[in-house]
Amino acid sequence: MRADRQAGYRALQLVILSVLLLYGCGQERPDYPQRQMPQGMMEDGAQLAAGHTLFSDKCASCHGKPSEGLSGRAAFFQPPAPDFSETHYRDSDPAYLFWRIEVGKTVEPYLSSGSVMPAWRGLTDREIWQLVAYLKTRAK
Ligand code: HEC
Repeated sequence: MRADRQAGYRALQLVILSVLLLYGCGQERPDYPQRQMPQGMMEDGAQLAAGHTLFSDKCASCHGKPSEGLSGRAAFFQPPAPDFSETHYRDSDPAYLFWRIEVGKTVEPYLSSGSVMPAWRGLTDREIWQLVAYLKTRAK
């Protein structure tokens, strides 16, 4: 009886592990540097407002104005520009968003995918964090 249960647990563990592995591989997310968002950024209205302004100036033309959701232009791109009002952006790793804004299409797999996402190396780290904080709070 006890051995049965142990075998059952082991089978369950294997299933969970396989699912996690498959899920992990399916993501095809390349390695990116780990970074910490400066503390309090997500709760600081001034930082979020700065992120909002940066987004309206530099990003909304492709990703969509905060007022309209997804830009009509987003779908002309292949791959399309994502809509940052999508809920899952709330849970996105801030370090991933930071890195995507910093390097844009200049790294694989985005480089050969035909992405038009610019690299924003001209922005300061603080400005990129302001954008990340804004994107994470903007998601519905
Ligand atoms: C010329 C159009 C264009 C502009 C301007 C632009 N983007 Fe993008 N962006 C894209 C496209 C297209 C993609 C999807 C392809 C990719 O991931 O590279 C993308 C992808 C992204 C991603 C990855 C999202 C994900 O789910 O993996 C982030 C983050 C991002 N953009 C943030 C920004 C920010 C912040 C700005 C402004 C500073 C900006 N983008 C400006 C076109 C643009």
